[in-house]
Amino acid sequence: MPMISAMTDLSAAMYSGAEPPYYCQKCPRLFDFLEDCRDRLPGHFNGPVSSFGDPKAELLVVGLAPGIHGANKTGRPFTGDAAGDLLYPALAKFGFSNDRFEARIDDGLALNRAMITNAVRCVPPQNKPVGAEVNSCRDYLRAQIDVLPTLKVLLCLGKVSHDSTVRCLGGKVAQQKFGHGSEYELGGFTVLSSYHCSRYNTNTGRLTEAMFFDVFARAKTLLN
Ligand code: URA
Repeated sequence: MPMISAMTDLSAAMYSGAEPPYYCQKCPRLFDFLEDCRDRLPGHFNGPVSSFGDPKAELLVVGLAPGIHGANKTGRPFTGDAAGDLLYPALAKFGFSNDRFEARIDDGLALNRAMITNAVRCVPPQNKPVGAEVNSCRDYLRAQIDVLPTLKVLLCLGKVSHDSTVRCLGGKVAQQKFGHGSEYELGGFTVLSSYHCSRYNTNTGRLTEAMFFDVFARAKTLLN
């Protein structure tokens, strides 16, 4: 995408409320942590990580939050994080990208009919956002959903992302329970879920590649 076009898209997204400003101050703890990162890690992006993908997305993948030396470094969701080494091949396998992922911001990767976002846009200490931060950042998730006119399926990675998505769509987490492979209709969309594709989950065998691909296969079937 030419730089000017990418900038226009991002400005449009910020205007719509789908992207936080670089110095977002909604979450004092995350703001302070990012200020500290700016001092300690000057080569990192160190800001709220914008959604990435196709503005005509039919599938929205909702992750948790940027990893400190992954998405927080590169400025693109799941890029440089171990979790991206499973997510991006899955997207390519099911035709949702041009398969050019090389874990670099300038790898030429483009998504097709899909977008990736995070329930929390800023890197949290120890990879763990607190409830108030997930709640504060939900406005951006809601706005992101609202600016995707062709959106049909949301794929939530992990319980935090699932619960925030359910609340965002007006559901109740006591009724819409998270589980790997769970599926239901909510707010005019199909909500699918998977265990998060973190290195911890894959190393412990909680999530296998086959299990993850099965969820993408289901998303593809729903969209076809
Ligand atoms: N990187 C992200 O951007 N999101 C996650 O959930 C994990 C790693």
